[in-house]
Amino acid sequence: MCSSANPDRVIGPRTRIVWFESPINPTLRCVDVKRVADACRARGVMSVIDNTFASPINQQPLAMGVDLAMQSATKYLNGHSDVTGGVVTGSKALVDPIAKARRQLGTVMDPHPAYALGRGLKTLPLRVARHNANADAVAQFLARDKRVTCVFYPGLATHPDHAIAKRQMTGFGGMVCFDLDGSYDRAARVYDRLKIIKRAASLGGVESLISMPVLTSQWGHTDAQLREAGVTRGMLRLSVGLEDPEDVIADLDQALES
Ligand SMILES: Cc1ncc(COP(=O)(O)O)c(C=O)c1O
Repeated sequence: MCSSANPDRVIGPRTRIVWFESPINPTLRCVDVKRVADACRARGVMSVIDNTFASPINQQPLAMGVDLAMQSATKYLNGHSDVTGGVVTGSKALVDPIAKARRQLGTVMDPHPAYALGRGLKTLPLRVARHNANADAVAQFLARDKRVTCVFYPGLATHPDHAIAKRQMTGFGGMVCFDLDGSYDRAARVYDRLKIIKRAASLGGVESLISMPVLTSQWGHTDAQLREAGVTRGMLRLSVGLEDPEDVIADLDQALES
């Protein structure tokens, strides 16, 4: 689903679940969450959102009428890139059967990651506030820089879904995506020159991580599929960490020289 999609057109007579995300990986386009939730409810369809990019600090989908919200706890909830886990929230009626299946299938977190996740959660609001501020600083820098063709950050007034993001998010998150003229070679050169920002596919940790969508989420996609997803071969997706933002900006600045 993309932000401009009319949910009534996405929902057909055989639809049982609408599963969507906002902001969307990697373009950070935003979907009107309440509009999707309302359309689903009106037709007896279950709505499920992947709220990982926003985190529950920046966006509360259940309050907007979504039935189930899931989060990769691997990302912001834990926040230290050393736990794999997931969380689903919703009404007791919907979550109880999931809990039962989980017990039967054995996908239960063992004590050490559970301890680490519990510890990480204690600083979630503080970390997310800093991720938001750092990402905003990085997005502003990239948006001013002539070497960068386009910057995708929901907090920028130039973002196509800034109005939606402002309505439904209390912070714009730590994820920033930028395009280097659609050029894979340029993006790969910048990617390889970074020193502080680490090359890895995950996100939401204390350290800044960068990935190339065409090597990760959009791996193997045709040109037509990339166009439909709004992704180019020259895009870089950055998870802005908790470092001094000036260090992250200086690293990007030197890498963009390539
Ligand atoms: C938006 C989003 N949801 C879910 C996941 C899956 O997370 P996990 O690593 O916990 O399986 C990812 C992983 O990158 C993600 O980016």
